[in-house]
Amino acid sequence: MTDTIAHFFPLSTKEGWSRFVSDDPPRPPKITHAQRQAQSKSNREQYDTARRQFMSGGIVRTPVFNKILQSASSRLRMNEFKYTGKLGLIVSGAPALGKTTTVTQIGKLHTLRRQHQEHPAGQPGSIPVVYITVPPACGPKAMIAEFAEFFGLPTNGRISQSTLLNTVSQVMARVRTELVIVDEIHNLNVNYRMSADASDALKQLSEKCAATFIYAGVNVESSGLLDGARGQQISSRFELHRVAPFSDRSTKHRDEWQAVLLDLEETLCLTRQRDGDILAHSARLFADTGGSIGRLVDTLHRAALDAIDNRTERLTFASDTTMRAKRAPALAAAS
Ligand SMILES: Nc1ncnc2c1ncn2[C@@H]1O[C@H](COP(=O)(O)OP(=O)(O)O)[C@@H](O)[C@H]1O
Ligand SMILES: [Mg+2]
Repeated sequence: MTDTIAHFFPLSTKEGWSRFVSDDPPRPPKITHAQRQAQSKSNREQYDTARRQFMSGGIVRTPVFNKILQSASSRLRMNEFKYTGKLGLIVSGAPALGKTTTVTQIGKLHTLRRQHQEHPAGQPGSIPVVYITVPPACGPKAMIAEFAEFFGLPTNGRISQSTLLNTVSQVMARVRTELVIVDEIHNLNVNYRMSADASDALKQLSEKCAATFIYAGVNVESSGLLDGARGQQISSRFELHRVAPFSDRSTKHRDEWQAVLLDLEETLCLTRQRDGDILAHSARLFADTGGSIGRLVDTLHRAALDAIDNRTERLTFASDTTMRAKRAPALAAAS
């Protein structure tokens, strides 16, 4: 029962975040196809639920993921004993390229590391990582209210912005927050007065607390956030990481793409899929997804769920001609 209720806490609340951090579904045991066929109905259902859970939590470490993770770890270490001049990170790129996945994993790994180290920030009652998203058209008070809502603090209309800011920074000090992740930062289009004030409120909060800040959002460079005098200040304190689709332009790039395919294949847990079989579809998957990890994961998950439902238990893709035939009417309808 508690589980079902907890399920409804979004990631941008301390309950939802804590559940995300502790969620670690085990890989279901590898079984042969004969063992699969011999499973009773209830074992089959249990096994399939475990596979779906494992598959959807399956994170692969792409080169850009590793680079951003490494940079975040070194920023956290550099900022640990600093009160001023703390440096942060911006993760920017087109949609569905893994920005949210990367920054939330960084937060999860940091929390687990603190717990493992028995660091004060990893003790019960501590909240070493805060994750919030910027709502569209958000003013300064609404911006700080997102933090209050993460912690479950009251945000009634009469409380002043500065009281809210002080309350939030005091709570962050008490629960030893070390890392603040602000996602959907492109919603702060500083060409609007309200958003510029919200960006200033974030800066004020960052000055009042010890945490390292990571911003993530869609094409942040063109959101106006980094323009003008205010933007220059942000650029000088935040290291910009751009995420791009995979490329197939060189052997090195194709190798990176294939490594991701192999890692993702492993997370699908299909009983008749032999390790490496996915490489036969490498070029086709690249063409269909444009090298976007989000589209790739979506395509593979659909194919894996179909393979489980129709009992083929291996990845198959409709032939190119079938795909083209399917796409043609959709394109015609869309135009
Ligand atoms: N490193 C990764 N490993 C596995 N799946 C990933 C990874 N990065 C992204 N994904 C998948 O791609 C989808 C889109 O990623 P997301 O992080 O939401 O992109 P963005 O924030 O850039 O729009 C996610 O739902 C997730 O399934
Ligand atoms: Mg995102």
